[in-house]
Parts: sequence; C-alpha cells; structure tokens
Amino acid sequence: MNKRLASALLCAALLGSGILRADNIVISNRKSSILITAPKGESPRIQYFGPRLVNPGDVFDSGSAFNDPVYPQFGVQCSRETAIQATHNDGNMSLELVVESVTRENRDGGQVTAIATRDKFYPFYVTIYYKTYPDCEVIETWTEIRHLEKKPVTLYRFASAFLPVRRGDNWLSHFHGPWGAEAYLYEEALRDGMRVIKDKDGVRNTQNSCPSFMLTLDGRPDEQHGMVIGGTLAWSGNYRIAIDNDNAHTTRIFAGINEDQSQYILEPKEVFTTPVFAFTFSDEGKGGVSRNFHRWARLHRLNHGGEQRSILLNSWEGVSMNVNQEVMDQMMADFAAMGGEMFVMDDGWFGDKYPRNNGTSSLGDWVVCKEKLPEGIEGLTASAREKGLKFGIWIEPEMTNSKSELFEKHPEWVIQQPHREMHKGRGGTQLVLDLSNPEVQEFVFGVVDKLMTAHPEIAYIKWDANMTLFNYGSTYLPRDKQSHLYIAYHRGLENILKRIHAKYPGLVMQACASGGGRINYGLLPYYDEFWTSDNTDALQRIFIQWGVSNFFPAVAMASHVSVDTNYQTGRKTPLKLRFDVAMSGRMGMELQPAHMTDEDKAFARRAIADYKLIRPVVQQGDLYRLISPFDKTGYASLMYVSPEKDHAAYFVYKLEQYHNMPRPAFRMAGLDPQKRYLVRELSLDGKPIPQDGKTFTGAFLMETGLDFEVGGEYASHVLELKAAE
Ligand code: DGJ
Repeated sequence: MNKRLASALLCAALLGSGILRADNIVISNRKSSILITAPKGESPRIQYFGPRLVNPGDVFDSGSAFNDPVYPQFGVQCSRETAIQATHNDGNMSLELVVESVTRENRDGGQVTAIATRDKFYPFYVTIYYKTYPDCEVIETWTEIRHLEKKPVTLYRFASAFLPVRRGDNWLSHFHGPWGAEAYLYEEALRDGMRVIKDKDGVRNTQNSCPSFMLTLDGRPDEQHGMVIGGTLAWSGNYRIAIDNDNAHTTRIFAGINEDQSQYILEPKEVFTTPVFAFTFSDEGKGGVSRNFHRWARLHRLNHGGEQRSILLNSWEGVSMNVNQEVMDQMMADFAAMGGEMFVMDDGWFGDKYPRNNGTSSLGDWVVCKEKLPEGIEGLTASAREKGLKFGIWIEPEMTNSKSELFEKHPEWVIQQPHREMHKGRGGTQLVLDLSNPEVQEFVFGVVDKLMTAHPEIAYIKWDANMTLFNYGSTYLPRDKQSHLYIAYHRGLENILKRIHAKYPGLVMQACASGGGRINYGLLPYYDEFWTSDNTDALQRIFIQWGVSNFFPAVAMASHVSVDTNYQTGRKTPLKLRFDVAMSGRMGMELQPAHMTDEDKAFARRAIADYKLIRPVVQQGDLYRLISPFDKTGYASLMYVSPEKDHAAYFVYKLEQYHNMPRPAFRMAGLDPQKRYLVRELSLDGKPIPQDGKTFTGAFLMETGLDFEVGGEYASHVLELKAAE
C-alpha cells in the first residue's frame, strides 16, 4: 500500500467529527467495518464490509476490494441493477454522481458519516448516510435525494441501501407466512440470478414476507457459529429486497421501498428521505446477528425499549365484541386475583348511531357505546384502578366502515378510485382512510388525543389495522402524484405517530395488524410491542416466535395464553405449555377467566408469579436459540442470559411424541463457564426435574448439558439459573 493512502486511511479513522479530507472512509463499530473510497469529484466506491478492519490497506493489497459504487445509479454504465434511477425533465434518464464532501458528526447517540454527492451535470444531489453507535453492532444507512433543477424530476428507483458481499457458499434465511403462520423460517443456498423478497399489501407489510433477512458468508446457517450478516428495512409500507448474484465475485443487496407503481415526482428543493436499512455482521452465527438487532432495538429503535412490560389480560379471545361494564369488571377482578397487572379492552366498545357488534360497522365512530358501557370509559378506568390494574383500549383508527357516521360525513376520506365500485374488506364494509390527506391525519391523531385527554389513565393502546390497501387512488393527491399514495400513506402514518409520541411519551402502544402484519422497525420507534400473531396455539407459536425472534427482542413480542381448544388450530394443549410458551416473550393472557377451573387459576397464579422472577432476563437479556423447532427433532429450546451472566431462563418444549425417540443433549449457551449456577424449575405442574436445586458450572451446562425426561407430547419445562454467590 502506498504511503499517501496509508496516511489518508489513518487520518479518516482517527478523525472524530467534521469534514473528512481523506479519500478513504472507514466506518467501524466494535466488530465490523465498512471501507469506502470517496475522492472529491469522483464516484464514491464501497470497497469492503465485514469483520472489523485493523489495517484497512489490507483490503486493497489482498485484491478483495469490491470497488462498487456506494449507490449504484442508472446512467453511463447501466447494465446492472441500480439503487437509484431518475428521469430529468429534459428526458435524460441517467445520473452520474460524484463526491462533493464527506462529513462526520455525532448525532442522537451515534456517529453519522455523510457522503454528499452531486450529478456531474445536473444540480441533482444524493447524500448517503451511515450511522454507527458506540454501544451496539448495528449500522443504519439511508439516503437523502434532492435537486435544484427547474422542473420536477421523476424518481423510478430509490433504494435505501446497496450492500455488496463477497460471494461464497451464501445461504439466505428469510421469514415468510400468511395470517396465523407468520414469520416461518426458510433457508436456501443462494443460486445465480436474483432473489427478491417483497411486499405490496400497502398497509400491513409483514403478513406474507418480512423485510428482514440473514445471509451467511460461508456455509450453512448455524445458530452459534459462522459469519453472518443480517439486514432489516425500517419501513412500514411496501418494500423490496433484491439479492443479486450476477457474477463470480460479488453478491449485491439492494433494499428499500418497493418502487412498483410508486414513481415519485420530486419537486425542486423537496427532500426525499429513504427509510433506514439497518444491518449487522456477526461471527457468532445467526444467534449473534439476532442479539445485535435486539440490543440495537432495546437501546435505540423500540419505544421504551429498556423498560419492563406489564402482564396483561386482553378481552378479545375471551368475549369477542361482547364487552360491557359487568363482564369487564369480572375479567379484571379475576385477573387481578391471579397477579395480573393490566387489562386491555379489545374491539366492540364504540359506536353511537351504529353500535359495534360485529365487523360490519362503526370503525371511525370512536365514541363509547352507551348501551354496553353506560358508565363510559371512566367506569372502566375506575374499576381497573380499584383492582390495582392499569387499563388499555383497542382502536383501529386508520379504518372506517361504509356503515359508520364517519363515512356518511366524509366519504371522500377513504382510499378510492373514480368510476369504480369499491372493493371492501372485513364485514363486507371495511375501507381504508387516506392518510396522505393532512385532514385525515388530523382526525386519526385526534382519535388518540381525544381518548387520552378525556381519560389520562389509559396506559396502553392496541392499534389494529385489518385491511389491505385496495381501491388504489386518492381524492387528496393531485392527478400527477397519484403514484405517491403507497409512500404518502406511510409517511402520513408516521406523522401521526410522531405527534402521539411527542404528546404522550409514557403511553404504551401495541402494533397489531390482523396479528403479526406489522412487525417492522419502521413502526417500533413509536410502539412498545407488536401482536405477534392472531394464532395463539402454543405449538404453532413456538415456530412463529422462533422466526420473529431472529430480528425482534422478546420485550416486544406479545405472547398470550388462550383456551385449550385453540380457536385457530383446534389443538388441545396443556395450560402449562401455553404458559411456558407465553413466558418466553412478553407474557399475557387472552381468555375469559370465568371459564377457568379453580385448579387452572391456581396454576396461572403460580406461573404469573414465576414469570415475574424471570421477566427482567427474558425481556432484557441475550437470547440463545438452542434446538430449533424447524429441525424437526420433536424438541425446541431457547434461553435468555442477563448481560452480567448471573441470571438466566431456559425453556424446553416437546413438540411431538413417538416411540424410541432420541433425546438431544440439553446444552446451554451464553453462560459464564467459570460461574456456578443454581438450577430451579419454575411454572411447576407436578414433580420438578431431578436437577432442581442443584448447582453446576457454566462450562458443564454449555458443554455437556442437563439430561432429563421432558415428558410426552406438549410437555415443557422452564428453568431459572442463578449464579451462586
Ligand atoms: C384483529 C386482531 O389481530 C385481534 O387481536 C383483535 O384485536 C381483532 N382484530 C379485533 O377485531
């Protein structure tokens, strides 16, 4: 490596903030680095992403530099996939971006490196941002696009990120599944050609594929070992992640808003900011990638990420829309007696002219139904207060029904097309409000604001969204900007959420969208958690939660105990399994306690008390996935370990039973090999395992593990481990 390059690299690496004069930019956190060459007046190039660089010059000397554009543009060389394509008003479809400046500054707890570029001819500007944090291993990247041309420019491509990785035996892990089977894990070796993960629902973007993936750098995916990168797009609307293998050396990843039917007319001076794409590298397998994302979420991306969540009872599966003061009182009293902490009244409480008794009416009419709740919400908050519970409420504020006072007053507020009959959703009447319209945004903000102003004791809002964006078209957007709707809808949603967040910083909110339809980091800065799935069958939840846990921490993963002939699958499972699965996330219940036997209530009381013991480590600890349900051994197990490694919670589930079934070793992970841990079985329903009350070294637990009979089909165990003094 020549001397000039070496000193430039050193200068770039040492410089804390300000303008970086060096041509070569190293962006590092503790475990990984990106190397970019960005000489002024030339095309900025990404040369490397991988394990932290000690000596950046090695990248060039070794011949492994990518030398790919940082933000590939359709332009002079146009045979490859691109991150950006803009058509100027004179018809020219190309861009040629060169570096204007590179700056670095500390912002919001992290360090932001900005590579400002400009087209060689047109006054068209793109700034590419990378943000690192001193306390976590995730890098965020996004871009800002603007121009000072005389007339609008049309954007046809506007990825958040481009990331090259060295092609090897790359395996893709991605997550897919429809309603009730969300986030199932799929793994495949990458082949030549392009693999696209995308969504076009318009409203809920994780009901089929998830905008998150992992890619191994060499070999089959493994939970504990191997170099893996993970990426997730922090956006709640349509997305597209394209992984392109078009030659022998490089795999190219493009991630961003799905541009299909979304070309964007960019006015002079308007700034188009793409959503954040967050990515990370780990040399501790998929588990390491997950822990990196969880930590980033808890510290920087999830509302109240570091705070403990309440144990709640939600009324939905218990009483459906048949809510009234008496039944709510009884549910609260029963739950309080079991040790619960919060009660959430779900759908069915609203509607004056049209009381909400089923899915055919009332969305938009957010006034209490006096027939059902003569004492109003005040009657419920008072009752909760008296029982020592917090109170939460369900809304679906982005929607209306054609049978509602709102629709009668404002038919123009729904998403619709001229000259066409409207395609309606749930109940044959549901419609989506047009959040691109600021008046509608004001209305939706007002739904929460009015509730909170009138009832400041409301501690929790379950925010539902049960419809796809059908009838694409807006009465608000001008004729030439109809193609903005998919994007404007989600920007409108974010505006509303930002206002709610600013005015009610302590309010806890759940993102629900027909179950797990909105599990994305675009929304989580404003929501504390998500409803993981409408499927509450404990067995299937083991699979769904396993998938979701790859990117999202347990503190945000709502997991409820429901009745024993499960409504979604018809399966019967023991109450213990239902609790033991819920205990591995943010535990709650979703049933009518009046239908529980005294024995079941006594068990629930014990399990809730036990969950409180391990809640800090489940909700704030590091996750180690141990035996995957997708490996079909008949078992699944996982554990959480506190950052100090002095407290852990271990879960094992028996998924099926057949004769002569081999039993895997129940090895643990993440413990301190030197420490001794006292093992105690929790959530007990019968005799404890023989190891209960005994002490083992962390090394033994991780290398050899415990050996015990789990039991027959749907048996389960929860162990607490505490470092002995
Ligand atoms: C769909 C949600 O996923 C359920 O949990 C429940 O809130 C219903 N909507 C209520 O209509």
